Amino acid sequence: MDRLEKALEKSRQDRINAGMTPAGHGVVQAVPAYAEPKPDIVPDEALLERNRIIAHRTRTPEADIYRQLRTQILHIMQKSGLKTLAITSPHYGDGKTTVAINLGLSIALDLKQTVLMVDLDLRKPNLHQYMGAPPQPGLTDHLLRGVPLADCLTRPAFERINTLPAGSAFDNSSELIGSPGMIALARELKERYPDRLVIYDMPPVLAQDDPIAFLPQVDAVLVVVRDGITRADDLKRSLHLLSGANVIGTVLNNCW
Ligand SMILES: Nc1ncnc2c1ncn2[C@@H]1O[C@H](COP(=O)(O)OP(=O)(O)OP(=O)(O)O)[C@@H](O)[C@H]1O
Ligand SMILES: [Mg+2]
Repeated sequence: MDRLEKALEKSRQDRINAGMTPAGHGVVQAVPAYAEPKPDIVPDEALLERNRIIAHRTRTPEADIYRQLRTQILHIMQKSGLKTLAITSPHYGDGKTTVAINLGLSIALDLKQTVLMVDLDLRKPNLHQYMGAPPQPGLTDHLLRGVPLADCLTRPAFERINTLPAGSAFDNSSELIGSPGMIALARELKERYPDRLVIYDMPPVLAQDDPIAFLPQVDAVLVVVRDGITRADDLKRSLHLLSGANVIGTVLNNCW
């Protein structure tokens, strides 16, 4: 947690040095899912372990770190009624998907808060594989091929969690992400259920313009920073690109 606090302070300082205001505050509200999707993901503990999905465990130091993170995030979001959170980072492999899933599990399992996790990394989707789900239709199939949303939503065998996989990989992702269909879907996901938090797993902000294209649709943004790898300048550039968004914090990953 010391490291997390240091990362948050570093982020604040970087924003100030870059002439930006300190991270803003947003709100959250939460919500359940559409139809009740079938529980079609059976978690395999060995696979979850390999993928560093650990936040569902009780009283382990790693899970406790996510509890601390979750509490800070929910505090900021609930205070301002924020409902949707995008997770991005400067580069590929910084740990966005790992953080997104662990954060979602931590919120849903302990706090009785319903969470929808959406894979918005449309070129390289892997959120559902990390949770051990087979390939299945998802967001791109819904938007481009009219597959009903109810056939795309999945319910892992974790209570209060639904996932919306990305679906078939799609190269023109930023066009799709900024399309009227996607904007309408984001609004629907946010407003349909009053007690559901929506977490979007995004691509890296320095490598793709998808996060920027999607920013107007999210209430808050969390930036993952990789310990010992992310350069201060990369974080500064990322925060600059995200300056129109409500960046509520930075997570220092790879610290266990
Ligand atoms: N805290 C951690 N400790 C050790 N390994 C980690 C940690 N977080 C993530 N990893 C590992 O690092 C790799 C990249 O993680 P992940 O897929 O979450 O990153 P990403 O930012 O989503 O990548 P991409 O940009 O490709 O989507 C994975 O193998 C993951 O298991
Ligand atoms: Mg990822």
